[in-house]
Amino acid sequence: MSSPSLFKAKVIKNARLNVEHFILSVRPEGIMPAAQPGQFFMLGIPGRLDPLLKRPFGYFRVKEDALEFLYRLRGKATAIMSVLDAGDEVEIIGPLGEPYPLPKPKKVPLLVAGGTGIASLYPLADAFGGEALILYGGRNSDELLLTEELRGICRVLGLATEDGSVGVKGTVIDLLKEFLAGKNKNRHVVYACGPRGMLKAVSELGLEGYVSVEERMACGIGVCLGCAVKTSTGHKRACKEGPVFRIGEVVFE
Ligand SMILES: Cc1cc2nc3c(=O)[nH]c(=O)nc-3n(C[C@H](O)[C@H](O)[C@H](O)COP(=O)(O)OP(=O)(O)OC[C@H]3O[C@@H](n4cnc5c(N)ncnc54)[C@H](O)[C@@H]3O)c2cc1C
Ligand code: FES
Repeated sequence: MSSPSLFKAKVIKNARLNVEHFILSVRPEGIMPAAQPGQFFMLGIPGRLDPLLKRPFGYFRVKEDALEFLYRLRGKATAIMSVLDAGDEVEIIGPLGEPYPLPKPKKVPLLVAGGTGIASLYPLADAFGGEALILYGGRNSDELLLTEELRGICRVLGLATEDGSVGVKGTVIDLLKEFLAGKNKNRHVVYACGPRGMLKAVSELGLEGYVSVEERMACGIGVCLGCAVKTSTGHKRACKEGPVFRIGEVVFE
């Protein structure tokens, strides 16, 4: 695992997938950082005072010599990101945090993604070389991204939308319960990334695996304690000991 560094990168492309979702492709000034699935980067605009803080984004992939981030428009920082153009400069720290541990042989990786949680699970699916099963949910079809690409890197792709516009009507948790019904749960190792409510629900199903939390982060490097999450063994920093935690470790209230 490469140690984190602060580096500048040039925007190559900022592709809009739909109204709220983009893929930002940047080329680092130095060597390409070797990130592992589950790790993240803090991304900011050099010289910009508002917002002052960099924001965390999961390692999505490296494609054609560019480091890519899949992101959703939320507030100030992502609005600024959305208007970045080829040639603009960004400032990045990373890779940060602990990656997803790989499962024991013979266990089937079962990836459960809610919304932009797919950004962090995409490279993990890719690393399993077509063996992973992916269950992916969102509120509507606009929140299910890159489904054709995903089909090409996994064994099974199950989709759910709350409005029923694509896949099963319901949440990804409904889909997960349906998938597990009558199966031996111990055959799978679950990897879940998405909203807190979804991670809480996954954690209550008695499964073996990992959740990746998307806590708000200020420093991203373990200094400010702003990202502390309650765990069964005390508070831990999502940016340092996480963002990936074993299921059962995080106490979701
Ligand atoms: C480890 C990690 C990895 C992440 N990876 C990705 C990724 O790959 N793609 C992506 O789109 N986003 C990702 N996020 C979330 C991303 O960091 C936030 O969307 C971003 O910081 C929002 O910044 P903003 O200034 O645009 O929004 P702000 O102005 O800071 O906030 C706007 C609104 O969004 C809400 N919000 C902000 N951050 C979060 C959050 N973390 N969880 C829930 N609600 C939030 C705020 O409460 C507020 O209502 C990740 C977060 C973490 C901690
Ligand atoms: S964000 Fe500062 S300690 Fe984690």
